[in-house]
Amino acid sequence: MSPGRPPEIVVVRSPAEMDQALEVRRRVFVEEQRVPAELEIDEHDGNPAEVTTALHVLALELGLPLATGRLILSHEADGRPHIGRVAVLKDHRGRGIGRAVMLALHDLARERGFTAVTLAAQVHAIGFYEKLGYAARGPLFLDAGIEHRWMDVRL
Ligand code: COA
Repeated sequence: MSPGRPPEIVVVRSPAEMDQALEVRRRVFVEEQRVPAELEIDEHDGNPAEVTTALHVLALELGLPLATGRLILSHEADGRPHIGRVAVLKDHRGRGIGRAVMLALHDLARERGFTAVTLAAQVHAIGFYEKLGYAARGPLFLDAGIEHRWMDVRL
Protein backbone atom coordinates (compact mmCIF):
# COMPACT_ATOMS: atom_id res chain seq x y z
CA MET A 1 0.00 0.00 0.00
CA SER A 2 1.16 3.50 -0.76
CA PRO A 3 0.56 6.50 1.44
CA GLY A 4 -1.76 9.13 -0.03
CA ARG A 5 0.82 11.85 -0.45
CA PRO A 6 2.78 11.79 -3.69
CA PRO A 7 6.52 11.36 -3.36
CA GLU A 8 8.75 14.39 -3.00
CA ILE A 9 11.17 15.00 -5.88
CA VAL A 10 14.55 16.34 -4.76
CA VAL A 11 17.69 17.28 -6.63
CA VAL A 12 20.53 15.02 -5.49
CA ARG A 13 22.97 17.15 -3.50
CA SER A 14 24.92 14.71 -1.29
CA PRO A 15 26.87 11.47 -1.73
CA ALA A 16 24.23 9.70 0.41
CA GLU A 17 21.43 10.80 -1.94
CA MET A 18 23.56 9.75 -4.92
CA ASP A 19 23.91 6.30 -3.34
CA GLN A 20 20.12 6.13 -3.00
CA ALA A 21 19.69 7.01 -6.69
CA LEU A 22 22.26 4.39 -7.70
CA GLU A 23 20.50 1.76 -5.57
CA VAL A 24 17.20 2.40 -7.41
CA ARG A 25 19.07 2.10 -10.72
CA ARG A 26 20.80 -1.10 -9.61
CA ARG A 27 17.48 -2.73 -8.75
CA VAL A 28 15.78 -1.62 -11.97
CA PHE A 29 18.52 -1.81 -14.62
CA VAL A 30 20.95 -4.42 -13.24
CA GLU A 31 18.61 -6.79 -11.35
CA GLU A 32 15.43 -6.43 -13.41
CA GLN A 33 16.72 -5.62 -16.90
CA ARG A 34 20.05 -7.49 -16.62
CA VAL A 35 22.17 -4.53 -17.77
CA PRO A 36 25.82 -5.29 -16.85
CA ALA A 37 26.69 -3.39 -13.65
CA GLU A 38 29.86 -1.96 -15.21
CA LEU A 39 27.82 -0.31 -17.99
CA GLU A 40 25.20 1.08 -15.65
CA ILE A 41 27.42 3.62 -13.85
CA ASP A 42 29.57 6.14 -15.72
CA GLU A 43 31.43 9.43 -15.39
CA HIS A 44 28.17 11.36 -14.91
CA ASP A 45 27.54 9.57 -11.58
CA GLY A 46 29.33 10.31 -8.31
CA ASN A 47 29.64 12.92 -5.59
CA PRO A 48 27.38 15.81 -6.71
CA ALA A 49 29.92 18.29 -5.38
CA GLU A 50 32.44 16.98 -7.91
CA VAL A 51 30.39 15.85 -10.93
CA THR A 52 29.54 18.94 -12.96
CA THR A 53 28.25 17.25 -16.14
CA ALA A 54 24.93 15.98 -14.79
CA LEU A 55 22.11 16.64 -12.34
CA HIS A 56 20.24 13.78 -10.71
CA VAL A 57 16.80 13.73 -9.10
CA LEU A 58 15.34 11.35 -6.56
CA ALA A 59 11.72 10.59 -5.67
CA LEU A 60 11.39 10.04 -1.92
CA GLU A 61 8.37 8.76 -0.02
CA LEU A 62 8.64 8.74 3.77
CA GLY A 63 12.39 9.03 3.20
CA LEU A 64 12.55 5.95 0.98
CA PRO A 65 13.90 6.32 -2.58
CA LEU A 66 11.41 5.08 -5.19
CA ALA A 67 12.64 6.58 -8.46
CA THR A 68 15.40 8.55 -10.09
CA GLY A 69 16.59 10.10 -13.35
CA ARG A 70 19.41 12.31 -14.56
CA LEU A 71 20.01 15.23 -16.89
CA ILE A 72 23.34 15.30 -18.70
CA LEU A 73 23.86 18.99 -19.25
CA SER A 74 25.42 18.96 -22.64
CA HIS A 75 26.22 16.31 -25.10
CA GLU A 76 29.10 16.66 -27.50
CA ALA A 77 27.04 15.33 -30.40
CA ASP A 78 24.27 17.94 -30.35
CA GLY A 79 24.82 20.39 -27.47
CA ARG A 80 21.41 19.56 -26.02
CA PRO A 81 20.87 18.10 -22.56
CA HIS A 82 20.12 14.39 -22.45
CA ILE A 83 17.79 12.75 -19.96
CA GLY A 84 18.64 9.21 -18.95
CA ARG A 85 18.57 6.46 -16.32
CA VAL A 86 14.88 7.14 -15.60
CA ALA A 87 13.83 4.35 -13.26
CA VAL A 88 10.87 3.71 -10.96
CA LEU A 89 10.91 0.71 -8.61
CA LYS A 90 8.61 -1.98 -10.02
CA ASP A 91 6.07 -1.93 -7.16
CA HIS A 92 5.56 1.83 -7.55
CA ARG A 93 4.98 2.11 -11.31
CA GLY A 94 1.73 3.48 -12.67
CA ARG A 95 1.41 6.10 -9.90
CA GLY A 96 2.66 9.10 -11.88
CA ILE A 97 6.12 8.98 -10.28
CA GLY A 98 7.99 8.54 -13.56
CA ARG A 99 6.17 11.54 -14.99
CA ALA A 100 7.03 13.58 -11.87
CA VAL A 101 10.72 12.67 -12.27
CA MET A 102 10.61 13.75 -15.92
CA LEU A 103 8.89 17.06 -15.16
CA ALA A 104 11.50 17.82 -12.49
CA LEU A 105 14.27 17.13 -15.01
CA HIS A 106 12.53 19.37 -17.57
CA ASP A 107 12.39 22.15 -14.96
CA LEU A 108 16.13 21.80 -14.32
CA ALA A 109 16.82 22.03 -18.06
CA ARG A 110 14.56 25.07 -18.47
CA GLU A 111 16.17 26.84 -15.49
CA ARG A 112 19.51 26.47 -17.29
CA GLY A 113 18.18 28.04 -20.46
CA PHE A 114 17.70 24.92 -22.56
CA THR A 115 14.72 24.84 -24.92
CA ALA A 116 14.86 21.18 -25.98
CA VAL A 117 15.84 17.81 -24.51
CA THR A 118 16.90 14.53 -26.11
CA LEU A 119 16.85 10.99 -24.82
CA ALA A 120 17.39 7.41 -25.92
CA ALA A 121 14.15 5.61 -25.11
CA GLN A 122 13.91 1.90 -24.53
CA VAL A 123 11.31 0.81 -27.07
CA HIS A 124 8.85 -0.39 -24.42
CA ALA A 125 8.88 3.11 -22.84
CA ILE A 126 8.23 5.12 -26.03
CA GLY A 127 4.54 5.57 -25.12
CA PHE A 128 5.53 6.94 -21.70
CA TYR A 129 7.72 9.62 -23.30
CA GLU A 130 5.13 10.39 -26.00
CA LYS A 131 2.70 11.33 -23.22
CA LEU A 132 5.29 13.91 -22.14
CA GLY A 133 5.40 15.38 -25.66
CA TYR A 134 8.43 13.54 -27.03
CA ALA A 135 8.59 12.43 -30.68
CA ALA A 136 10.76 9.54 -31.89
CA ARG A 137 13.28 9.96 -34.71
CA GLY A 138 15.57 7.63 -36.59
CA PRO A 139 15.93 3.86 -36.57
CA LEU A 140 16.08 1.38 -33.72
CA PHE A 141 19.51 0.82 -32.19
CA LEU A 142 20.92 -1.46 -29.50
CA ASP A 143 22.44 -0.21 -26.24
CA ALA A 144 23.38 -2.74 -23.53
CA GLY A 145 21.49 -5.29 -25.65
CA ILE A 146 18.20 -3.33 -25.36
CA GLU A 147 16.40 -1.78 -28.36
CA HIS A 148 16.21 2.04 -28.24
CA ARG A 149 15.12 5.01 -30.36
CA TRP A 150 16.11 8.64 -30.07
CA MET A 151 13.32 10.96 -28.91
CA ASP A 152 13.16 14.77 -28.62
CA VAL A 153 10.92 17.34 -26.98
CA ARG A 154 10.79 21.13 -27.02
CA LEU A 155 10.41 22.55 -23.53
N1 COA B 1 4.18 2.66 -22.30
C1 COA B 1 3.17 3.53 -22.56
N2 COA B 1 2.67 4.39 -21.61
C2 COA B 1 3.21 4.32 -20.39
C3 COA B 1 4.25 3.43 -20.05
C4 COA B 1 4.76 2.57 -21.07
N3 COA B 1 5.74 1.71 -20.83
N4 COA B 1 4.59 3.61 -18.75
C5 COA B 1 3.77 4.57 -18.30
N5 COA B 1 2.95 5.00 -19.27
C6 COA B 1 1.94 6.06 -19.19
C7 COA B 1 1.03 5.89 -17.99
O1 COA B 1 -0.08 5.08 -18.31
C8 COA B 1 0.65 7.32 -17.69
O2 COA B 1 -0.37 7.70 -18.60
P1 COA B 1 -1.58 8.71 -18.18
O3 COA B 1 -0.94 10.05 -18.01
O4 COA B 1 -2.51 8.63 -19.33
O5 COA B 1 -2.13 8.18 -16.91
C9 COA B 1 1.89 8.11 -18.05
O6 COA B 1 2.62 7.29 -18.98
C10 COA B 1 2.78 8.41 -16.84
O7 COA B 1 3.07 7.16 -16.22
P2 COA B 1 3.82 7.04 -14.81
O8 COA B 1 2.92 6.34 -13.82
O9 COA B 1 4.36 8.36 -14.41
O10 COA B 1 5.02 6.06 -15.21
P3 COA B 1 5.86 5.15 -14.20
O11 COA B 1 6.03 5.80 -12.89
O12 COA B 1 5.28 3.76 -14.21
O13 COA B 1 7.30 5.13 -14.94
C11 COA B 1 8.87 4.08 -16.43
C12 COA B 1 7.47 4.70 -16.28
C13 COA B 1 9.09 3.72 -17.91
C14 COA B 1 9.93 5.07 -15.99
C15 COA B 1 8.90 2.78 -15.56
O14 COA B 1 8.04 1.82 -16.13
C16 COA B 1 10.27 2.17 -15.37
O15 COA B 1 11.03 2.57 -14.49
N6 COA B 1 10.60 1.14 -16.18
C17 COA B 1 11.86 0.41 -16.04
C18 COA B 1 13.06 1.29 -16.37
C19 COA B 1 12.99 1.84 -17.76
O16 COA B 1 12.73 1.11 -18.71
N7 COA B 1 13.22 3.14 -17.87
C20 COA B 1 13.18 3.83 -19.14
C21 COA B 1 14.49 3.75 -19.78
S1 COA B 1 14.47 4.58 -21.37
